[in-house]
Amino acid sequence: MDVSSYKPKGRIEHKHLLNLLDYSAADIYEILHLSNSLKTAFHRGKKHELLKNKTLAMIFTKSSTRTRVSFEMGIKQLGGNSLFLSSNDIQLGRGETIHDTACVLSRYGIDGVMIRTFKQSDVEELAKYGSFSVINGLTDDFHPCQALADIFTLYETYGQLNGVKLAYFGDGNNMAHSLMLAGAKTGMNVCICAPKGFQPNPEITEAAQKFGNVTVTDNVEEAATDADALYTDVFFSMGQAKDPAKEKALMPYQVNAKVLGMAKKDAVFMHCLPAHRGEEVTEDVIDSTHSIIFQEAENRLHVQKAVMCLLMGKK
Ligand code: CP
Ligand code: NVA
Repeated sequence: MDVSSYKPKGRIEHKHLLNLLDYSAADIYEILHLSNSLKTAFHRGKKHELLKNKTLAMIFTKSSTRTRVSFEMGIKQLGGNSLFLSSNDIQLGRGETIHDTACVLSRYGIDGVMIRTFKQSDVEELAKYGSFSVINGLTDDFHPCQALADIFTLYETYGQLNGVKLAYFGDGNNMAHSLMLAGAKTGMNVCICAPKGFQPNPEITEAAQKFGNVTVTDNVEEAATDADALYTDVFFSMGQAKDPAKEKALMPYQVNAKVLGMAKKDAVFMHCLPAHRGEEVTEDVIDSTHSIIFQEAENRLHVQKAVMCLLMGKK
């Protein structure tokens, strides 16, 4: 069944959003349908208080523009409150454990914690010991909120996800991992194109392949041919030092006019942002009419509002 024919039930049986591995196609379709209603309401100026008086704490141990602002505005638009907790300002940054932080935050009436950090195991530990819902706002391994916003953007663009081909170029990183999972679960055809040594984690690739159509190649033409969407991300993720050897290996995977020319005529260009023009993508592609990067960025707001409602709202 595709997302367009799915009949939403208004709930999912999950408390957390950690990595999408345990989310079914139906769970994802629920999120996409609610995102669509919330986006329509937002653009019509329709007010609602689906999370009235609920509080989301946001822990950041890495920088952010989109994630911070979209979660903060999202919970506010749903009638709730947010607490911004930079790891520089809380004791976590001075070595207090995730376990103790989870136990303490559980005593203050917090309903959800969005966390952006390095280790995926920290996000999982927070969920294990906290009493609240935990939402992964990016780790070294996954970026599920971005991938959900991206497939929602593709659903808006193509009216379906089944059979849509997304070709991802560059570093086999957290974005590649989450796109493989989100795409595989929703019937998309996901091709990751990266040089040997920078391909996605084989365990995550194998897990995604069990759910659907995921391939990994180092051949740019093979990946771009017949693609509906070309996606790329930075060569160096947050926390990674610039390495000339990695840059040299990834440059042939840059999304430029030549690569765009190999894809379908109306193919879209996608990027989670922030972007480095002239590195993973050329200016003529990212600033072209093919580019839907700001639609993706906007959709972070709508999709995360849907996620918060489904996880933190009344069950
Ligand atoms: N795409 C994304 O997560 O952006 P930020 O790093 O600005 O949050
Ligand atoms: N792969 C990038 C994504 C940023 C949204 C990073 O982890 O820095």
